[in-house]
Amino acid sequence: MHSFTELVSKFEERFTNSLPFPASPATLYDPCRYFLQLGGKRVRPVLCLMGNELFDEISEDAWHGAFGIELFHNFTLIHDDIMDKAPLRRGQQTVHTKYDMTAGILCGDVMNIYAYDEIAKIKTALPQVLRVFNKTAMEVCEGQQLDMDFERRNDVSIDEYLHMIALKTSVLLACSLKIGALAGGALGDNANKLYAFGVNMGLAFQLQDDYLDAFGNAELLGKQSGGDIIANKKTYLHLKAIESANATQRKEIDELILHNDEGKVKAMLSLFTATGADVQCRDAVAHYSKLAFDCLEDVAIPSKRKQPLVELANYLLMRDK
Ligand code: IPE
Ligand code: IPE
Ligand code: MG
Ligand code: MG
Ligand code: MG
Repeated sequence: MHSFTELVSKFEERFTNSLPFPASPATLYDPCRYFLQLGGKRVRPVLCLMGNELFDEISEDAWHGAFGIELFHNFTLIHDDIMDKAPLRRGQQTVHTKYDMTAGILCGDVMNIYAYDEIAKIKTALPQVLRVFNKTAMEVCEGQQLDMDFERRNDVSIDEYLHMIALKTSVLLACSLKIGALAGGALGDNANKLYAFGVNMGLAFQLQDDYLDAFGNAELLGKQSGGDIIANKKTYLHLKAIESANATQRKEIDELILHNDEGKVKAMLSLFTATGADVQCRDAVAHYSKLAFDCLEDVAIPSKRKQPLVELANYLLMRDK
């Protein structure tokens, strides 16, 4: 059994030493290499390795799963940064800012194909693995589209928000665990319970991501601070602020979303605090984390083997980047 930190460094070493891209055309593959060497927390590949190690020694199949999933995740980030007009990622320029829009689009596209190439190398339970991977990839697109649609809507409900973040974020965390478990020979029931753990952990993860986008330390995060506010994202903070606002506060929010003036982020942050939306968001993180831990309890393996997953979930809860 390996701890979370051990698995992160094992993954880091193996992944960065064996990036699959050829030299030419450099205009396509240099941006891929640039982005992947910026690091990241490597949560998803580690979930795949942990899911695998719950049932067996970590196998070559699990490594292919971990590589494929991290490539896929990075592809979604490159395109997400275009859609969100984000200048910074992991403390450095986003791909479309450093290179150009063509590089952002195409290096994302090719990275997605390389992701499939890795997944296709898995030998154990490949049909089931592909089924969950394909379903997840489609759901991420659906979630990302809803996220963008919501920017222009002012009547988004909390349920719609939760559905959207489940699609754009949670399912990939759940899928990572499940692919590792399937490749480790897990039976359907256990693999599904792990999936449910991943979905709830993913909801807590995205709620925390929204919270940090507003209240986190931009330098630690490596992303533009207040990017969600600038884009009028319908985050949990935003929706709860509207729900809890008095008439004056509601008017202020309605005014703020019409323009992108100098003081918009600061003013919206004050409203998030004044309406108690910040506390409600933190409570929601705790709520979905608790649900996640309950699902993990149900997985029929000795609790000692689940320890690394508990460690990872706790790290995600406490994270500041
Ligand atoms: C960012 O994911 C995108 C979301 C789903 C919130 P991470 O926060 O895992 O990004 P990296 O890979 O660690 O940079
Ligand atoms: C991104 O959500 C989810 C995916 C990339 C699928 P966000 O837009 O909130 O992620 P960040 O904050 O840019 O990392
Ligand atoms: Mg984004
Ligand atoms: Mg986004
Ligand atoms: Mg975000």
